Amino acid sequence: MRRTVMSVFAVAAVAAGVVIGGVAEAGTTLGASAAEKGRYYGAAIAAGKLGDSVYTGILNREFNSVTAENEMKWDATEPSQGRFSYANADRIVNHARSRGMLVRGHALLWHQQQPGWAQSLSGSALRNAAINHVTQVATYYRGKIHSWDVVNEAFADGGGGGRRDSNLQRTGNDWIEAAFRAARAADPGAKLCYNDYNTDGINAKSTGIYNMVRDFKARGVPIDCVGFQSHLTNSAPADYQANLQRFADLGVDVQITELDISGAGQATAYGAVTRACLAVARCTGITVWGIRDTDSWRTGQNPLLFDGNGGKKAAYTAVLNALNGGGSTVPTGGPSSPPPGGTGGCAASVSLNAWTGGYVATVRVTAGSSPISGWTVGVTVPSGGAITGVWSATGSATTGAVAFRNVDYNGTLAAGAATEFGFQGTGTAPAGTPTCQPG
Ligand code: G3I
Repeated sequence: MRRTVMSVFAVAAVAAGVVIGGVAEAGTTLGASAAEKGRYYGAAIAAGKLGDSVYTGILNREFNSVTAENEMKWDATEPSQGRFSYANADRIVNHARSRGMLVRGHALLWHQQQPGWAQSLSGSALRNAAINHVTQVATYYRGKIHSWDVVNEAFADGGGGGRRDSNLQRTGNDWIEAAFRAARAADPGAKLCYNDYNTDGINAKSTGIYNMVRDFKARGVPIDCVGFQSHLTNSAPADYQANLQRFADLGVDVQITELDISGAGQATAYGAVTRACLAVARCTGITVWGIRDTDSWRTGQNPLLFDGNGGKKAAYTAVLNALNGGGSTVPTGGPSSPPPGGTGGCAASVSLNAWTGGYVATVRVTAGSSPISGWTVGVTVPSGGAITGVWSATGSATTGAVAFRNVDYNGTLAAGAATEFGFQGTGTAPAGTPTCQPG
């Protein structure tokens, strides 16, 4: 029997008998619970830590999106001019994609972490080098990146609401739009974001960015999203949700991209930020900037969701409860939907037959407006359950984040064409809309 995705998961949870406080439990991990609300829950990760089993165990269990904390920055990917270096970034991308996690690309152009050779350039030589960098890196990762931070932190702090001085800014005020146009040409399927900090409430800096985005939309400069880093202390600004909403009202997605919160109000503030995102239809996902407190760039401030031993903190529970609470809005485009102006991509939808203690899921994979030659569908299996069988696809794991890849005969799909595969499992079925990525 076929049912719609949203109703089906409520039925599955009830059928499985998972009830907390009289309400059917939606999910038991951050990624699964966010997916049920049509959103992703991600973490910034470091390639050098993937061999740490506690770290990677949490990553694979809890998260369905990743950001490279440093490995995709200009100094890492183009250490000398025209010589590109992707080994560490590839480790992150491969880890994520092989498990069906989304990848946020961070960051194509930024005034920090530039290679020494770029720091010594100026004028048209720097402009050309910067645009070439955008083109080369976005082309290399074409089809693999959900969202790119095309430009990071280009606005000044303080009351002026203007651009930050930098070598890039001195190449001309149009450097940002030039970067976005180059990124769109290189990877039409990626959402293109502007990302910044101290923009979490309505203030002069966020209003300067707001005006830029409004101007870009009016002139047809390709921009799809704005990232709010949200490095917070004790609480979020009172107008946090209102600020997200005013950007969404311009016609862009909003994403919380580098969340960490220090101070006594930590757990409460994490809950409030989560609810704010759920209340804004175009807030498509949240990324925390690290996994354990000991992984954080904010040394000694313990601003993350897991303690140094990998234990769940009160802040973790606050986020999970908020994700599983009511009152969210459904994103206009889910995490796997093709971006506006994009041509590639695929989408996946699930129909379930669930009973107490188990389920069979049938997944329909549909190509976007371009043909695809392979697909990867990602789901997060709620803890306590496991996948026990798969047909017409191969599964990367039986618990946690699982990537299903096409088999020989069903990978090639014409534009708009669809195919189906299935899996069965014990416990509660994965919640929400699965991710789908070509390739
Ligand atoms: O890997 C080297 C190591 O070999 C060396 O021994 C050590 C000595 O200092 O440095 C190590 O590199 C450091 C790198 O992090 C990896 O740990 C760099 O010095 C350090 O500058 C770098 O810091 C990163 C910072 O960006 C750079 O500005 C942080 O990890 C990273 O979390 C942080 O992320 C930024 C976002 O990209 C943008 N928004 C703000 C956010 C926090 O600053």
